[in-house]
Amino acid sequence: MIQSPRGTRDFLPDDMERRRFYESILRQTAQRSGFREIQTPIFEEAELFILRSGPNILNELYAFKDKGDRDLALRPEMTAPAIRAFVNGMSNDPKPIKIFYFGQCFRYERPQSGRYREFFQFGAEIIGAATPETDAEVIATAVGMIRSLGLKEYKVRIGHIGVLRRKLAEVGITAEDMPPILQKLDKKLYDEAWPLMEDAGVGREDAEKVFDIAGTVGGIEVLDKVEGEETAYLARVLSYLSVMGITEPEIDLGVVRGLDYYTGMVFEAEAPVLGAEKQICGGGSYTLSELFGGEKVFTTGFAIGFDRVLLALEKEGAVSPVKRIDAYVIAASSDTKLRAFEIAGMLRREGLSADIDLSDRKMAKAMKHASSVGSVFAVIVGNEELGTGAVTLRDMSSGEQRLIKISDLPAEIRGH
Ligand code: HAM
Repeated sequence: MIQSPRGTRDFLPDDMERRRFYESILRQTAQRSGFREIQTPIFEEAELFILRSGPNILNELYAFKDKGDRDLALRPEMTAPAIRAFVNGMSNDPKPIKIFYFGQCFRYERPQSGRYREFFQFGAEIIGAATPETDAEVIATAVGMIRSLGLKEYKVRIGHIGVLRRKLAEVGITAEDMPPILQKLDKKLYDEAWPLMEDAGVGREDAEKVFDIAGTVGGIEVLDKVEGEETAYLARVLSYLSVMGITEPEIDLGVVRGLDYYTGMVFEAEAPVLGAEKQICGGGSYTLSELFGGEKVFTTGFAIGFDRVLLALEKEGAVSPVKRIDAYVIAASSDTKLRAFEIAGMLRREGLSADIDLSDRKMAKAMKHASSVGSVFAVIVGNEELGTGAVTLRDMSSGEQRLIKISDLPAEIRGH
């Protein structure tokens, strides 16, 4: 039996109804804050991601050559494609530009719970400004989305990549040596960061100062412990968030993020219920447009790991509404079949959802099928009733049956 490729999933009807339900909540939340949707190709020139996505993503890239010998790659994320689309088609639009996107991304990772090779992101970007206001708006949108899904337990941590970068430069680390050290600091793995720093000629005392910064976690007050324009900037971001009622984020100056393009504020959200793969959202401010042939434009954005928030919601016991069908039409005998199809067609034209028995089942079996497809009513089309222009309408939950004139059927079903 052929299975779906490792790290990918099929979404069956029950899954899809649940996914579409949450996707539409996210879409509405983004639109409520003035973001407009874009869609970009699932594959891009590999170069787009090689230019700035960072070593982790590159190792995970699904890259291939097409028949025209072009180097292409499935998108591992959608920020670079969104900025390419901006450079190509939106660069003259009035700024700031607020866009959002939803779709699948591909990373060649080791699959485990919450980590897939094909997964979905819902993301948003504000292009054209780097201000505390913009950053606050982006974080507020991300938090608003997580709230709107109904997730109960989550943490949001905000940092500024500039603080650690400046400190590392001060103690003598070159820009080239920084990325692996930053990755260790991000995970607060100081024992593993230390040998890398020592090799780069940093003394233990200076290293401790760096670790102190990476370990600065808490409320707005911890910002006072670290001087500099970045912490003053973050204090302003927090003050905007606070007046918008977004009080859950805490400061964590050790947040670095896995992608190389961030230059300023960075933030992450996690759902502790998920265990190892608990990060449900990541974002920050960056510039990429100049790498893709455009002008340098500051941008801030984020992406929510759609599959992971859904997993977290499931673990918290959230239930999404089940889609039901209004009517299931059954011909009581073979000579009423044509009329049954006519009635199903009429109900559909009236805007109701109607299914119809397609396989000459006996009445009891047809009724059983009607309830298994989640029909609210069964419409039984019998010869005798047809003679008076009527059909039998059965309420599938109470079992109550009534004779209804065919012309009254849509109103009866709708009035339920
Ligand atoms: P990222 O942190 O690499 O950021 O991914 C965002 C989210 O996607 C993660 O927090 C996680 O929930 C989810 N995710 C990542 N990899 C997987 C996977 N293999 N399986 C399931 N979920 C996964 C970005 O991609 C940036 N483009 C975010 C951004 C937008 N920054 C600025 N604008």
